[in-house]
Amino acid sequence: MLAVLDSVGSPGLSTRLRAFLDDRAPETPCLVLDLEVVRTNYRAMRAALPEATIFYAVKANPAPELVRTLVHEGSSFDVASTGEIDLCLAQGADPSAISYGNPIKKARDIAYAYGRGVRRFTFDSEGDLANLAEHAPGARVWCRFLVDAPASGTPFGAKFGCSPEMALRLLGKAADLGLAVDGACFHVGSQHTDPAAWTAGIAQAGRIARGLAESGVPTRSLNLGGGFPASYRDPVPPLTAHAGAIRAAVAAHFDSPVELVVEPGRAIVATAGVIRTEVVLVSRKSDADEHRWVYLDIGRYSGLAETENEYIAYRLRTAHPAEPSGPVIIAGPTCDGDDVIYQNTPYRLPTALRAGDHVDILDAGAYTASYSSVSFNGFPPLPTLFVG
Ligand SMILES: Cc1ncc(COP(=O)(O)O)c(C=O)c1O
Repeated sequence: MLAVLDSVGSPGLSTRLRAFLDDRAPETPCLVLDLEVVRTNYRAMRAALPEATIFYAVKANPAPELVRTLVHEGSSFDVASTGEIDLCLAQGADPSAISYGNPIKKARDIAYAYGRGVRRFTFDSEGDLANLAEHAPGARVWCRFLVDAPASGTPFGAKFGCSPEMALRLLGKAADLGLAVDGACFHVGSQHTDPAAWTAGIAQAGRIARGLAESGVPTRSLNLGGGFPASYRDPVPPLTAHAGAIRAAVAAHFDSPVELVVEPGRAIVATAGVIRTEVVLVSRKSDADEHRWVYLDIGRYSGLAETENEYIAYRLRTAHPAEPSGPVIIAGPTCDGDDVIYQNTPYRLPTALRAGDHVDILDAGAYTASYSSVSFNGFPPLPTLFVG
């Protein structure tokens, strides 16, 4: 599959984004976000799963303008830190619409969140549960279990979640400690392209709910986490396919109606952004080398963290006609040997490409700007500009 799209009619770049890039010619590298696409994606998620409450995962892109846009859309927010709590509140979110979803947190951060009005938390361990009981008395809690799901595009490994058996025990204990038990939650891993990926987790959550009911603890909600995919080089199934599989699994594994919660990040913001970059250098490693090395003014440390292991293969766009083209290895601008973006994923770029040309990275609104380092090798963090 070719990674090159020419500028004419390339999908993934809204008319507004293209006009902004053409008219404003911003300094590179920069991320340009179309807030209208964010609204469209949010509404598409709401339409696909109208029975679910949406908690936007702020980590995907914490730009204040974006958070404010989602506040106006009526979104709730999944946050990972006290900094994200302050950010959401400053943009007008109600504390009741914030969930502190990171199971790894300090006791004093729980106390801070509670002091700011946050009443929904996720835990996955005995220690965090004890801290919640002490510093967030009466709060609503989910227990995250480690789901047995097929690997996703950017897997989490085993860092989060306890065994389903332990989740059942800890949720029972949460009720004893005076916390308001919501139920179980899980995350299938980010960029999950298989709509059936949630099924095993929903079945496990159903078993936890039945176990809780036997001890007289009702389940209020099921938190399905994030993981809803965006189309990068390879198209992904529509959100409605994920919604259909989720709905069928909930009906099969829950005896009584349960409120659903989702925490999408990528699916809300990825396709709303384009990163404009500039080619710094095009070279070959030997006269016989078939591959050109294309060095961009953005790399692993200035926003393209998700190209680690080449997990995310973005679509690229240049102003040149797509053909003639040749194979390329794409790398960042720093003096760091790991700052190579794609060397195993086959990419081709136009043979006419020269230093100074632009390469646009499409669908780059999620997990980019917020990952860029403060000043590695003296390169500044990736700025974000807004349209819409
Ligand atoms: C707890 C939690 N919820 C939601 C998300 C968002 O996931 P995604 O962007 O894949 O939808 C993440 C991502 O790391 C997460 O850790």
